[in-house]
Amino acid sequence: MPEGTMQLTTDRGVFSHGALDLGTKVLLLKATSTPASGNLLDLGCGAGPIAITLARRSPAATVWAVDVNNRAVQLCRDNARANGVTNVQSCTPDEVDDSIRFDGIWSNPPVHIGKPAMHAMLLRWLPRLADGAACTMVVQKHLGSDSLQSWLTDQGYPTERIGSAKGYRILRSVRAESAADLDLDLDLDLD
Ligand SMILES: C[S@@+](CC[C@H](N)C(=O)[O-])C[C@H]1O[C@@H](n2cnc3c(N)ncnc32)[C@H](O)[C@@H]1O
Repeated sequence: MPEGTMQLTTDRGVFSHGALDLGTKVLLLKATSTPASGNLLDLGCGAGPIAITLARRSPAATVWAVDVNNRAVQLCRDNARANGVTNVQSCTPDEVDDSIRFDGIWSNPPVHIGKPAMHAMLLRWLPRLADGAACTMVVQKHLGSDSLQSWLTDQGYPTERIGSAKGYRILRSVRAESAADLDLDLDLDLD
């Protein structure tokens, strides 16, 4: 990674035991732009590779690293500390204050939990995107990246493919209102 190396302790019960997932690697190498400050979310943090990378890229931001797996939450917390990162808040979803809005969401989402559960997870967090903020995800093409892109767009989160590599797609979603605001700003600039 451009940010340098990262030492991660992993565990059998946590995603990507023993090696960085290829999809996660594609996401981190292809989607390198992060807001300098604010609240950033790593949705489904596992052992923490995304959260720790975001925290290094944006040391003035707070990176919320959430996971339903308590062991993952603990590993992410320990890994952040072991890598000298102090701006990661690792916790379960219910521990994030409802008032917090996110200046960016990143995820290698848990496709294996099935569409209904994954869709419910996304609909819990995407409405919490701040104005103009985006959600960036990596999904394997053969695990349904195209249908997820259509579904997100239908749900009011216009989604574009911003990159692809090794059979993975990087999807970037915004809130429809934000997209409309951007169009409006552009019109105003042109007038
Ligand atoms: C594909 S793994 C990615 C892990 C890590 N971000 C990485 O890149 O190595 C997806 C993670 O989502 C977590 N997860 C599953 N359902 C979730 C939910 N409803 N809310 C938050 N995290 C969830 C899983 O426990 C798992 O750690």
